[in-house]
Amino acid sequence: MKKFYKAVILISLLILLLPLEIALSQQSKTTDAEITEIVQKITPQLIEIRRDIHMHPELGFEVERTAGIVAKYLKEFGLEVKTNVGKTGVIGILKGGKPGDVVGFRGDMDALPITEKTGLPYASKVKIAFDGRETGLMHACGHDVHTTVLLGIAQVLAKMREELPGTVVFYAQPAEEIGDGAYAMIEDGALENPSPSAVFAYHVASDFNTGQIGLCSGYALANVDGFHAVIHGKGGHGSQPHKTIDPIVIASRIVLALQTLVAREIDVAEHTVISVGSFHAGTASNIIPPDAAIRETIRTYGEEQRKLVKEKIIRTIKGICQSAGAPEPEIEYFFGIPSLYNNPELAEKMMPTVIRTLGEPKLLLKAKPSMGGEDFCYFTQKKPSVMFWLGCTKEGDPYYPAHSPHFNPDEKCIPHGVKVMSAILLDYLKMREEKK
Ligand code: NI
Repeated sequence: MKKFYKAVILISLLILLLPLEIALSQQSKTTDAEITEIVQKITPQLIEIRRDIHMHPELGFEVERTAGIVAKYLKEFGLEVKTNVGKTGVIGILKGGKPGDVVGFRGDMDALPITEKTGLPYASKVKIAFDGRETGLMHACGHDVHTTVLLGIAQVLAKMREELPGTVVFYAQPAEEIGDGAYAMIEDGALENPSPSAVFAYHVASDFNTGQIGLCSGYALANVDGFHAVIHGKGGHGSQPHKTIDPIVIASRIVLALQTLVAREIDVAEHTVISVGSFHAGTASNIIPPDAAIRETIRTYGEEQRKLVKEKIIRTIKGICQSAGAPEPEIEYFFGIPSLYNNPELAEKMMPTVIRTLGEPKLLLKAKPSMGGEDFCYFTQKKPSVMFWLGCTKEGDPYYPAHSPHFNPDEKCIPHGVKVMSAILLDYLKMREEKK
């Protein structure tokens, strides 16, 4: 009998909840249709904005022109705008028609010192002096797309502000490529007044086709650390090595020992990469030089692992020098930008929205963690955050990775990115309200 009553209660509950469920999904469908309609209308203007930004790339914190364009449009869309946040960053605050929580979206604005070779009619012709040499300047990492997508989302949500339960904050960030822009904006108070409970971002990804979205939950990008070491020896004649302390041989042993360190001392589950990028010593074949210099990049995930690897590297270098009878080496070890952690609970929570707006679950792809770096990590350290990969390769087109002079993201990823992210931000705020 007890079973019978339980079943009756369960069925009654289902009957009661079903209309609510249907109403919610119908509501999502109407909202999605509204977003799609607005996106279709604004796409030609977004493409124009993107091409203009692409033709006029700017470096690091010197993104005045781009920041000016962003501020101008955000004001036009009716957002409250703050400029010069973290030097040249721009913040746009969109207050919805209903009370609610705060959510953020970050897009970066800076370009790279690369001479563009795409041959596009709107290719960059900008030249700059970089490290004493003339070079081109190019949006070779798709930050022109990120800036445009940010403006697109702001425009869509501004048009729908009456049904927006809460506030959306847009962060247009400078200096991502040098790893300083996000930090500078946060230091300047970007995450306060209003303070978002979550922040989202995109990075274009040529590994994925347009229409696809990639996600790597948890650690997605690495700590970008490194060191410069000068190995001191004792110079002398190449024919009499026993009268010298050969820094080239010592430094070579260090290079190999560090690879063994990864293979023998690091847990294979703890992704770690140590790569020598520079090795300089000597002048002539018959001279043993007094010292050798090496530079390495070190990639890990998480704070604990980066500290552990640092300890092991310093111990290895010093130990090898000591065993060769060489003086104490000079080691300049530095921690660069930290690893980027995509909050798994937040990602999980937004999955239904992503899949619904993509149209097909198979367009959402599980991305592998990468050993590259991204300074959105500073947002992920402060707030639950997720950075998605926005597929940008047109099916059948040749593959060019970001930072290639041929990098040419398919512009169709712009309306696609705007559509999916507008729904994510809107649904996030609605979910926060339903929870109350
Ligand atoms: Ni980038």
